[in-house]
Amino acid sequence: MTVLVVGASGAVGSAVVAGLLERGVEVRASSRTPERLGLPKQVRVFAADLNEPASFAAALDGVDRVFLYADLEDPEAVTAAFVAAGVRHVVVLSSSSVTFPGAAEDFNGSRFLRVEAAIEKAGLGYTFLRPGGFASNAARWSWGVKGESAVPLPYPEAVQAPIHERDIADVAVIALTSDALIGQAPVLTGPERLTLRQQVDTIGAVIGRPVAVIEQTEAESTAMLSQYVPDVWVHQIIKDWREAVGSTPALSNEYTRITGRPARTFRTWVEDNIDLFR
Ligand SMILES: NC(=O)c1ccc[n+]([C@@H]2O[C@H](COP(=O)([O-])OP(=O)(O)OC[C@H]3O[C@@H](n4cnc5c(N)ncnc54)[C@H](OP(=O)(O)O)[C@@H]3O)[C@@H](O)[C@H]2O)c1
Repeated sequence: MTVLVVGASGAVGSAVVAGLLERGVEVRASSRTPERLGLPKQVRVFAADLNEPASFAAALDGVDRVFLYADLEDPEAVTAAFVAAGVRHVVVLSSSSVTFPGAAEDFNGSRFLRVEAAIEKAGLGYTFLRPGGFASNAARWSWGVKGESAVPLPYPEAVQAPIHERDIADVAVIALTSDALIGQAPVLTGPERLTLRQQVDTIGAVIGRPVAVIEQTEAESTAMLSQYVPDVWVHQIIKDWREAVGSTPALSNEYTRITGRPARTFRTWVEDNIDLFR
């Protein structure tokens, strides 16, 4: 069996490559800039861009299963390339946002729904991984933590259940190496609810010095985030935080059901990424 990991440079994609190699699977990797990948020699590397589906012809030749990021403009064209190449199973990094009311009209939910729908309609075997907010979103705080030991936030009491990207990758690897998850769409979350303030406190506890939260207005936060993130995402991030204040996000047991292990905590994510913060 040969698996193509699209987005092998990504946080989740690179962990999927590592997990497949551990299991002795023949892995191919693609990236728009493959020269940056730095993977072991046994991994065949291809240059390919999801927004140019024809660029996948060589990478897909002889491939049975694909791990796919949903960041693409024309899902039907990408799906057609998979069908033409004889791919039989696609594991998509989707999002729990597709399960929210009004997802089809929502900017974020709709882009994942389009990809899921195209794959299902094409008759390909599928597994849609639907994670909630990533623990790695806290990487955005690294400069504040390193510099001022402070994180500016408009809604520090927003509640999340952040998921470690390696948990998503573990489920992807099981999906890609068996038929157990074909036709399934597990919603994946971290194991605990934490406010943003508690996440900042956790970072402080792991690095061994306190990190303050500086309360911002929405306008201040928008101006700050806009320096690094496209406007459409700035609005989405702030809207998600605003709506999560005082919320009780559902905790999924799917990671444990599928892997037999407890999900990794936010603290584990910070420990695994401690160099971001000290
Ligand atoms: N952050 C969250 O809370 C959250 C929650 C749910 C879902 N998600 C989704 O999860 C994904 C982010 O995961 P991550 O943190 O692992 O991402 P990441 O580290 O930022 O990596 C993104 C990957 O996507 C690949 N990619 C992007 N556009 C591509 C294109 N046109 N053609 C081929 N590959 C392309 C990149 O490949 P190259 O640059 O190497 O080509 C890269 O490997 C996004 O789709 C996001 O919407 C995120």
